[in-house]
Amino acid sequence: MQEDNFKVTPWEVSGRVDYKKLIQQFGTQKISKSILEEISRISQGRLHVMLRRDIFFSHRDLDLILKDYREKRGFFLYTGRAPSMGMHIGHLVPFLFTKWLQDVFNVNVYIEITDDEKFMRNQEYTLKQTSEWAHQNILDIIAVGFNPDKTFIFKDTEYIRNMYPLVTSIAKKLNFSQIKATFGMDASSNIGILFYPAIQIFPTMFEKKRCLIPAAIDQDPYWRLQRDLAESLGYYKAAEIHSKFLPPLASSDGKMSSSIPESAVYLSDPPKTVEKKIMKYAFSGGQATTELQRKLGADLRVDVPYQWLYYIFEENDGEMQKITEDYSSGRMLTGEVKKILAQKVNLLLEDHRKNREKAEENYTRFLYDGKLAKQMWEKIHS
Ligand code: TYM
Repeated sequence: MQEDNFKVTPWEVSGRVDYKKLIQQFGTQKISKSILEEISRISQGRLHVMLRRDIFFSHRDLDLILKDYREKRGFFLYTGRAPSMGMHIGHLVPFLFTKWLQDVFNVNVYIEITDDEKFMRNQEYTLKQTSEWAHQNILDIIAVGFNPDKTFIFKDTEYIRNMYPLVTSIAKKLNFSQIKATFGMDASSNIGILFYPAIQIFPTMFEKKRCLIPAAIDQDPYWRLQRDLAESLGYYKAAEIHSKFLPPLASSDGKMSSSIPESAVYLSDPPKTVEKKIMKYAFSGGQATTELQRKLGADLRVDVPYQWLYYIFEENDGEMQKITEDYSSGRMLTGEVKKILAQKVNLLLEDHRKNREKAEENYTRFLYDGKLAKQMWEKIHS
């Protein structure tokens, strides 16, 4: 991957990702027009902005998921999160989209919180920390608005007793060479993290139906391993729908990182901070002076505020078209685009904060005593 000047793994995304090339490298499929048309029909013409604008751009077996839906066999959704101190806007992408899929298809959603993964991957973190972050991140996830009767959120360190028998069957089918080749680990990696892929694969087998995983494309290596072994255990190969990465504020390369605060907008950032980060740090494709901008217009391919608006924050196609034309031709200046973005981000975060305040009330329903959660705790997976 080196010669392409970009890298995508579950732990590192760097360089300007060429998504067309990535589809070839990973061996996935571009989401076709006919798939989009079918989802549009099912959603009564209200295709999600992330599908309309190609952020969710690639898949494996999404056609089979739609077939299972058409033929009433059904399917379920699975996604997850390795807890960290705070969630940023990029982390919200798969959850917003998964909630929309749940509403459209009326299916169960399983959300894995990998407090174990986070702990084992970083020598400096304690389990107490990752467990506290898990709690905070779960409140953010609940605030997205999932259906409490059809959603099960679980922390690995808690649910392990119920999953362990099936996890051992998965682990038995994975050898060190595969893990090494898939994730680039070596003999110095701790044995917990070598074993961990079995735990992330396991929820794809929660039901004897096909599983659809919405996530950014960085998670794909796990699903490749899953697809090699699932059928031998009597389960379906996982289907996936992959998103691109929302770029960090400060450059259009790589993905947002929680460890570089100015590169990300956090869900907990107050309005003034959001405004300041966007106005000060967001990388602009506009020209150096107003005069030049009026003459030459902005380079939209590298302009981060434009991309954030395009991918998520300006859902109205007509408005987006106007911004595209005016900004690229120089009628609009960077400051104006940044202002629109800051307003939109703050609107979303204000809504999110309100929902988050109520999330604690529903916490136990999602984790322990809601309809689906209760069923899951009664089950030992083997
Ligand atoms: P984590 O916590 O790194 O990321 C959570 C989810 O957010 C996606 N993501 C992004 N999407 C768009 N733009 C970005 N800038 C961006 N940054 C992160 C990730 O792809 C992921 O979907 N090992 C996983 C946790 C996990 C999981 C899963 C994820 C367990 N089971 C099943 C997806 C599906 C992790 O570290 O995610």
